[in-house]
Amino acid sequence: MDPAVLISGLKKCYGSLEAVKDVSLTLQPGEIFGLLGPNGAGKTTTIRCLCTLTTPDAGRVEVNGISVLENPRLARQYLGYIAQEVALDKVLTGRELLRLQADLYHMPPKVARDRIPQMIALLELTDWADKKTGTYSGGLKKRLDLALGLLHQPDVLVLDEPTVGLDIETRSAVWQFLRDLQAAGTTILITSHYLEEVDALADRVAIIDNGVVIATGTPSELKDQIGGDRITLRIREFTPDDEAQRAKALLQDLPCVQEVIINGAQGNSLNLVVAAQADALMTVQHALKAADLPTFGIAQSRPSLDDVYLAATGRTLLDAEIAAAGNRDLKAERKQAMKGT
Ligand SMILES: Nc1ncnc2c1ncn2[C@@H]1O[C@H](COP(=O)(O)OP(=O)(O)OP(=O)(O)O)[C@@H](O)[C@H]1O
Ligand SMILES: [Mg+2]
Repeated sequence: MDPAVLISGLKKCYGSLEAVKDVSLTLQPGEIFGLLGPNGAGKTTTIRCLCTLTTPDAGRVEVNGISVLENPRLARQYLGYIAQEVALDKVLTGRELLRLQADLYHMPPKVARDRIPQMIALLELTDWADKKTGTYSGGLKKRLDLALGLLHQPDVLVLDEPTVGLDIETRSAVWQFLRDLQAAGTTILITSHYLEEVDALADRVAIIDNGVVIATGTPSELKDQIGGDRITLRIREFTPDDEAQRAKALLQDLPCVQEVIINGAQGNSLNLVVAAQADALMTVQHALKAADLPTFGIAQSRPSLDDVYLAATGRTLLDAEIAAAGNRDLKAERKQAMKGT
């Protein structure tokens, strides 16, 4: 069977800027695939090439074995695209926009007549369908956008940052909706710079940085590749002798501990990379207790996708975005955005 999406050796320049240098991805039918990377990494450009919205400079791009370059009209029938920026015509109603979309996709009138009310009901737009979209909230616009992208029942749904700016309830609803679509057989390509979102939703992930894919795999595979679990703990604040250093020296000698970093405002937090084994936490706890070093808030966790990004690029995704965003308080924005996930 042909892959649902095949992108191979994709390259796209804007003038002298190489927005996409070398991207290769294969999506199997029915999977949710996450494209992760900081601002300006080339995610939207990759997706725009796939969705026939811009022409690549080099590479192969196929949907269900159909070349989007040679046969864009046919390829488009298989593709649903939901853009990063919602750009709805404000003076039309939701239902009118859905009719327009049906015409654009050459849907037979009878099919459109059946399907438009179905989409309105599915996305819970019944009360709003006949109101002008200029009066819609951000969440409603996104839901209408999803309805428009799904109207022609595409095999492959491509969503660019689908949950940016949505409240927690709407975000959860979108996630559930995507999972339901997947269960019904749709292949989904989603971009995000929310690590937690991609981690929770995607079967497989590609991390893209500076126009190049730097890692591909399931979230678990990627985390396994960098090895080790993380243990974080705090020791007493304001200790007379340097307990953090004492703890570090002690823990470094344990066979299950690979690395110890002291941080935190008071220098009383320790981050450990340990062997991924269940008794690592107990071993660490016992060693500290035996040396009379009490601990607080000790926890063991798998590495995150940010640890994967860090291992590949030497900086965290958040650092990369802070560099790209200038003065915006991204940490606060991220915290707000991830509440309840
Ligand atoms: N139409 C365009 N003309 C010129 N440069 C562009 C154009 N579109 C994108 N770029 C540049 O190409 C690079 C990749 O942009 P792209 O939008 O693909 O990144 P992204 O990964 O989607 O970022 P974000 O997370 O901010 O959405 C950036 O440097 C961007 O400024
Ligand atoms: Mg983008």
